[in-house]
Amino acid sequence: MSTLVSEPFQALSLKSVFSASGIKGKRVTALSPQGNALTDFIQTAIAEKPDIDSPFGVLDLGVVMGLLEKWTTKLPTVRPFYAVKCNPNLSLIGALAALGTSFDCASKAEIEAILSLGVSPDRIIYANPCKSESHIEYAATVGVNVTTYDSKDEVEKIRKCHPTCELLLRIRPPQESGARTSLGLKYGALPEEVPELLSVAHAAGLKVTGVSFHIGSGGGDAQAYKGAISAAKSVFDMASLLGMPRMRVLDIGGGFTSGPEFDVAAMQINAAIQGSFENKEELVVIGEPGRYFAETAFTLATKVIGKRLPSRACHSPAPRNLRTLFAGIPKPTLPPCLDQPAIHLTLF
Ligand SMILES: Cc1ncc(COP(=O)(O)O)c(C=O)c1O
Repeated sequence: MSTLVSEPFQALSLKSVFSASGIKGKRVTALSPQGNALTDFIQTAIAEKPDIDSPFGVLDLGVVMGLLEKWTTKLPTVRPFYAVKCNPNLSLIGALAALGTSFDCASKAEIEAILSLGVSPDRIIYANPCKSESHIEYAATVGVNVTTYDSKDEVEKIRKCHPTCELLLRIRPPQESGARTSLGLKYGALPEEVPELLSVAHAAGLKVTGVSFHIGSGGGDAQAYKGAISAAKSVFDMASLLGMPRMRVLDIGGGFTSGPEFDVAAMQINAAIQGSFENKEELVVIGEPGRYFAETAFTLATKVIGKRLPSRACHSPAPRNLRTLFAGIPKPTLPPCLDQPAIHLTLF
């Protein structure tokens, strides 16, 4: 039986989120969408426990639900598989599981975490092109039946340890997206490697059902999806030329951010799929958003236990995520030069 099927994705309700693993038993508070409710909430939490020394995070479930709704509206034909490596926080994966998303796991530990939430293995893709044999054997035991590959070595490991596993050939996108983290150097078959990698898997008796790619993580150029989708279609065509069964899975990876760039990316993706693929009815399209769900949903509150200010501190730009930290620090405690959006300091 094939694992990835083409079915409309349906998000579930808020009620199911409150009783989800990882959420149930945690403090859940309704916050007003107006004003600085989140900052006020954090400050109240600190005031309630003034001795608190450890950092703590606040997960905004409303943000998670809003992002999922946006995804299903803008990319209605793309099933989201949350990339657990991005943030395996139990409350986040529990909420996403309860909302009906699927999961991209990169290791045995991640698969275990997702299965422990009661998620069925057909909602998991083992999206790591370089796995250890024992982890592949584990995937076989628990029924995780789709994985990625980009080398002959991996084909041999999968043939030996999990011969019924469906394979997606991970390709290197043709153009760099300008993302903060480029993944192209690490993973992805080059066009000239594709025919041999397809043939080797086919000859080993494995089913190569589709193609995956990742344009790079964080703020990349949405145009990169267009080129990558067209390259993926060439691999579909190559598989047919080689006499292999028709491919039907397109995995467009991650690389999404939650701002207006998402809308641009979604438009590019929808148009590229529409333009490239004629067998759309049987095409299963999945995505592996990580940062998209995890980046804006959390706010970290941390106690500043010491400060060391280099002399040029006030002139250096702050790493993007540090600014969020200061949202939780009452302004009067900051020296004037820190009370700026762009600062650079060492936090302890
Ligand atoms: C295979 C794979 N899928 C998805 C992701 C998630 O990427 P992002 O956080 O950019 O959505 C990553 C990140 O490294 C990845 O390697």
